[in-house]
Amino acid sequence: MTVYTASTTAPVNIATLKYWGKRDTKLNLPTNSSISVTLAQEDLRTLTTAATSRTFEKDQLWLNGQPESLESARTQQCLQDLRALRAQLEAHDASLPPMSQWRLHIASENNFPTAAGLASSAAGFAALVMAIAKLYQLPQSPSQLSKIARKGSGSACRSLFGGYVAWEMGSEADGSDSEAVEVAPLEHWPQMRAAILVVSAEKKDTPSTSGMQQTVATSDLFQERVRSVVPARFEEMKTAIANRDFPLFAKLTMQDSNSFHATCLDSYPPIFYMNDTSRKVVRLCHAINDFYNDTVVAYTFDAGPNAVLYYLQENESKLLPFINHLFDQTEGWEGRFSKGARAEFDQQFTEHIQNKFTAVLDANLHRGVSRLIFTKVGPGPQDTTESLIDATTGVPV
Ligand code: DP6
Repeated sequence: MTVYTASTTAPVNIATLKYWGKRDTKLNLPTNSSISVTLAQEDLRTLTTAATSRTFEKDQLWLNGQPESLESARTQQCLQDLRALRAQLEAHDASLPPMSQWRLHIASENNFPTAAGLASSAAGFAALVMAIAKLYQLPQSPSQLSKIARKGSGSACRSLFGGYVAWEMGSEADGSDSEAVEVAPLEHWPQMRAAILVVSAEKKDTPSTSGMQQTVATSDLFQERVRSVVPARFEEMKTAIANRDFPLFAKLTMQDSNSFHATCLDSYPPIFYMNDTSRKVVRLCHAINDFYNDTVVAYTFDAGPNAVLYYLQENESKLLPFINHLFDQTEGWEGRFSKGARAEFDQQFTEHIQNKFTAVLDANLHRGVSRLIFTKVGPGPQDTTESLIDATTGVPV
């Protein structure tokens, strides 16, 4: 039997201008445009292999080695759209193998622990769509394919690009203009760094899919957010990125995270994603910026308590002494920087910060944080020769 395979990796993205609310729940059409930073794949990525063969009996999926259902309406929608595009190619070229009619085997793996509670659906659907598009040799552009990934999970459309990405909400009822576009490539502003503080949560609050619709249905504040706040911020954020203006980028990012969580609190019944640790991180970031009388760090929170801190490489020596002081025992810190570098952060803190810092540093903050991940802005989906499916048997290796 001939088994055709193709593999891709896709990145995680973290929004700086949040997607929250749908105007069409079936097509995943948003109530506002959003902007995100794509994160490097050394630390966080999904690897997906798609395989097809005339002999396969049914569509099958393996996630991190375990068989999983492919039945969700969203996944089915993605497969259907990709098969339709392949069928168009086949209709024009009879020499192509009729893959659009064959079943698919898909294997997918994350390089980060699921327990970290990091949203993996964006990288997951982006990798699924890209791997199948590669298998089918589809000529469509990343923006065109982003409309398929969007139907899997809204935020996934932004993971089809590297660097700085916008999801333009569009206005068509069929979603044909609701797609991701590049705001600026990675090379435009490669100095962007991200530190993820994985905050221990007992269990996940309301899932984002239902949470956002609860907000749409009940929050008055939300109406104002989508009507006037986000449209203005969308333009300002693009300008901040174009000008590599970190203070403006950071202010807008923090304000938008706060605005999104305010609409969650304004939902009825209210939704709480941030917890006490998240709020302490917010205060810490403001205290650090006040201390330097400059904006050196920005926080943002998604539908959970984890904090993502954005900062520029040139400000690492300002921020990391604080991290070293507060989280020196936390998983992810040791090993990330050399002993020598950590000794310097320590010296910097005792000599230049400790005595002049007037805000109260919570010595117990580390208790609410289980792990730190240091990463940076990164590229979009990548081709890879690594394969999760054995091309002779058609099942996971
Ligand atoms: C808070 O993309 O997970 O992370 O479209 O229902 O799958 P669905 O939702 P999802 O929502 C992400 C919301 C967010 C903000 C963002 O990423 O823009």
